[in-house]
Amino acid sequence: MSDENAVKMTTMNYDKDRPAAENPVKIEDLSLRDGHQSLFATRGRTEDMIPVAELMDDVGFWAMEVWGGATFDTMHRFLNEDPWERIRTLKRYIKKTPFSMLLRAQNLVGYRNYADDVARAFVDRAAANGMDIFRTFDALNDYRNFETVVPVIKECGKHFQGCICYTMTEPRMGGEVYNIDYYVNKAKDLEAMGADSICIKDMAGLIAPYDAYAVVKALKAAVKPPIHLHSHFTSGMSSMTHLKAIEAGVDIIDTVMAPYGYRTCHAAIEPLVMTLLGTNRDTGFDIRHLADINEILEKEIMPKYRHLLDDSKMAITDINVLLHQTPGGMLSNLVNQLKEMDALDKIDQVYAELPRVRKDLGQIPLVTPTSQIVGIQTVNNVLFDDENERYKMITGQVKDLCYGLYGKTAVPINPEVQKKALKGYDRGEEPITCRPAEVLEPELEKAKKDTEGLAVDLDDVLIYALYPVTGKKFLKWKYGKEQPPKEVLPRTLEDAKAEQELLKKAKAGKLIEIPEKAAPPKGENFRTFNVFVDDEYFEVGVDPGEGAPVINYVQPMPGAAPAAFAPAASPAPAPAPATAKPAPAPRDETPKAAPASAAAVDGTSLLAPMPGMIIKFEKNVGDQINEGETAVILEAMKMENALPAPASGTVKAINFSSGDSVAKGAVLCVIG
Ligand code: CO
Repeated sequence: MSDENAVKMTTMNYDKDRPAAENPVKIEDLSLRDGHQSLFATRGRTEDMIPVAELMDDVGFWAMEVWGGATFDTMHRFLNEDPWERIRTLKRYIKKTPFSMLLRAQNLVGYRNYADDVARAFVDRAAANGMDIFRTFDALNDYRNFETVVPVIKECGKHFQGCICYTMTEPRMGGEVYNIDYYVNKAKDLEAMGADSICIKDMAGLIAPYDAYAVVKALKAAVKPPIHLHSHFTSGMSSMTHLKAIEAGVDIIDTVMAPYGYRTCHAAIEPLVMTLLGTNRDTGFDIRHLADINEILEKEIMPKYRHLLDDSKMAITDINVLLHQTPGGMLSNLVNQLKEMDALDKIDQVYAELPRVRKDLGQIPLVTPTSQIVGIQTVNNVLFDDENERYKMITGQVKDLCYGLYGKTAVPINPEVQKKALKGYDRGEEPITCRPAEVLEPELEKAKKDTEGLAVDLDDVLIYALYPVTGKKFLKWKYGKEQPPKEVLPRTLEDAKAEQELLKKAKAGKLIEIPEKAAPPKGENFRTFNVFVDDEYFEVGVDPGEGAPVINYVQPMPGAAPAAFAPAASPAPAPAPATAKPAPAPRDETPKAAPASAAAVDGTSLLAPMPGMIIKFEKNVGDQINEGETAVILEAMKMENALPAPASGTVKAINFSSGDSVAKGAVLCVIG
């Protein structure tokens, strides 16, 4: 076969100064963004990137993806880190390699379309802070959502990489919607918009090797910009896919460093370097240098995150992806949500419902945020629907999608579902057909006003504009107006090592230490107490026995201290051990049950149907509310759920405020 793209051996010289290949495959490293996002819920901290930053800069990557996607959300919400600061910090260490970010087009780094003024300001600030390549995608592949951000990327003199989200409705590429013409037409649209490169974004690892070959060949023939392949390993195909794409002439491939490799993440770089070594597509990378980086990652960095790795299964590939097309992140979200609802046994129902919901919602690709939108609605349907009614609890985001606020779906939305979703929808019951952001009021000035006296610069304002509740909380931590909770503190290598030691002991059966003296039997007056010592929490068993109370046992309790209003184990006050200190005030991050005071109010309680965070109450105490009217907006798994009032009457009690985390079953408010 004669083919100018054929991979052929050109040299047998394997050392690092080997002659450069004729057409080297360029590599983008994703370890510092998609790497930890895929494996560790995006919990990677800047301080853990610095030890390898300069070494990685020396590899010769075409780009390093270091920002965007979920990093912005996770950093300010869970890590108490300023997301903007990460770009500036890494830029001090990584001076040669361009930075790439994942931009969700008009969704920026959030989960909804933002107004044009916020979108323009965000891209401008990202460029000013040091971002070079804007990998831009829209979850619906509706490029009208690129129209605001692309001109700003260009004005800033930066690289616009346009993505085509890869998705299917059939077991392999083809069918009526997502066939080769679809991808070629999308690539032509991107070229016409001025794309500096075009990325096939296969977020769920669905692209089969021979389909990748066909798509890359077709795109190379149809458009001029370089073709870039982003294919997750999830299903186990991506290493094979990479090779076929390279044979078809792909220009750039995404990989990660070996410790981040495989599972729901990406194939590692090292095997690819060896595969292409000495060929006309040789990467030119020094494999020993890569090994040095891996050594640091393995010893100093990864142990801190090991506890976040899902090691519940033997297989590092997920066959469900081949069957259900669910991206890795979405799958773990679904499992977590079901777990929190004590409904993990319903996972098979969720798998069966998912394609139905996706079809109802216009066969949309499954990528953030559409993967969450489809996923959470699926879980809601499985948990709350009955034989008489489908779509009983429709999330705010599904309503927005039905209205057209995310853009145009690949096929029309099921009109019945659309009608139900838009009944009483506050923007109107008639869906729009224009570019979504055209119906959005400017948001930036309001954000500036809302953060007066708190935000110091535009970067601060944007944190709030994108994430009003958690963003404001973060700004208070940042400027010392509120104490950040313990949960956001970094985990040290010592913490991780101590835990590993414990695990090792446990595996060897050495964890249970035999007490020197057997505890006395528990008497009939035996009681347990919760004892709080600073931030630690112990359960203490006390037996009054005869005479002085005897402490029967002290059990350190894992995790955060329970809320102070958790019901005491003992109904009557009893002499507490001398070590007992007053319980610390409950923290916002601790999911709350209902305050004891709420129980005293007569009326119908609105219970949280799922754990989540209060966005806002629609009414105040004393207000009238009708049954079915929205009482509370509760965010669960990043989706907003409008919870209807269970009865008509007066709001008698509101037990939480905006930003509070609540447990399933918590009494949110009482109507009487
Ligand atoms: Co990805």
